[in-house]
Amino acid sequence: MTAPWPCLPGPSAWLRDIFMRARFYIHETNGPPIVLLGRNGRRPPGRAAESGALIQSRHPFVNIGYDHGNGITMAGPTLIIGATGGIGRALTHRLHAAKQPLFLIARHREPLEALATEVGAGWATADVLEEQGLRDAIAQATGTGDGVSGLAYCVGSIVLKPFKAAKTGDYLDAFRLNALGAATAVHAARDALAVGHGSVVMFSTVAVQQGFPNHGVIAAAKGAVEGLVRSLAAELAPAIRVNAVAPSLTNTPLAGPLTNNEQMAKAIAGMHAIPRLGEPDDIAAAAAFLLSSDSSWITGQVLGVDGGRSRLRTKG
Ligand SMILES: NC(=O)c1ccc[n+]([C@@H]2O[C@H](COP(=O)([O-])OP(=O)(O)OC[C@H]3O[C@@H](n4cnc5c(N)ncnc54)[C@H](OP(=O)(O)O)[C@@H]3O)[C@@H](O)[C@H]2O)c1
Repeated sequence: MTAPWPCLPGPSAWLRDIFMRARFYIHETNGPPIVLLGRNGRRPPGRAAESGALIQSRHPFVNIGYDHGNGITMAGPTLIIGATGGIGRALTHRLHAAKQPLFLIARHREPLEALATEVGAGWATADVLEEQGLRDAIAQATGTGDGVSGLAYCVGSIVLKPFKAAKTGDYLDAFRLNALGAATAVHAARDALAVGHGSVVMFSTVAVQQGFPNHGVIAAAKGAVEGLVRSLAAELAPAIRVNAVAPSLTNTPLAGPLTNNEQMAKAIAGMHAIPRLGEPDDIAAAAAFLLSSDSSWITGQVLGVDGGRSRLRTKG
């Protein structure tokens, strides 16, 4: 479907950028000025699938983007909180390769600044346990009023403790970091996510679907994340989609205490139907899919990326 050019809402930095790139595309292809119309963030058919097509949604929420022919339709930056970790970094690289503009958040400035410089992203340091700091950082990304197209909350913990040793503080700490931080991040970004018709991705764990000894603290906190995903997905639809990825043990700095022990890593790998540990990019691939317009009819879901561990028992 075509419409007369131009067909753009008010000026802003990223719209000007899209405008310039669209003009370049039109010039390069010698084609007619086109604006392709899509619905609900879905990738429209026909020429929109070509690299460089300009998209405008008919959805009441303004959703104009630049489809690179890879399923990622941009409508403002994607926020990655915990961008310098194992999974956050892999996701950052994936989305950068898909030419998605990014805004990165973590606590430590040096690795964050280096990563942001590498991928040309905006960035801000913040501790998710300090509410105002987190809100201020997110406001830096959303302050233009242009909307954001995604938010990935890649912060979390792995707490392994026998039930008899777990203290009240362990439960509260795990809840604050894994669930409350995610809720606060979405709360701070919700208007911008609505404008950008955005997608939220949180992280659970295989230990919610499958009971394991010594996982009570983390299973309780991640169970809260899964409940949050379903509730927010219902409440924020149709403007914002909310999903989670639930990994099994994955080779990241967080899992180091388990994976650095070769014997233990081998034993745990062998418990999976696909007998290896996860790699950060296994998890990032699922998160990138849930952030992209290829998943535009998926919301309120928890996607297990776990070598089959949550569902399958191949031994015994
Ligand atoms: N790896 C696994 O085996 C596994 C399994 C199941 C679920 N998960 C979940 O997957 C998600 C990503 O895990 P990961 O393994 O990639 O973790 P990771 O390697 O430890 O990375 C964590 C990231 O979050 C940042 N961060 C940590 N605490 C923060 C805080 N208080 N405020 C702001 N940023 C903070 C870290 O950077 P700074 O230190 O600079 O802040 C880093 O960028 C988590 O939710 C985790 O629970 C992981």
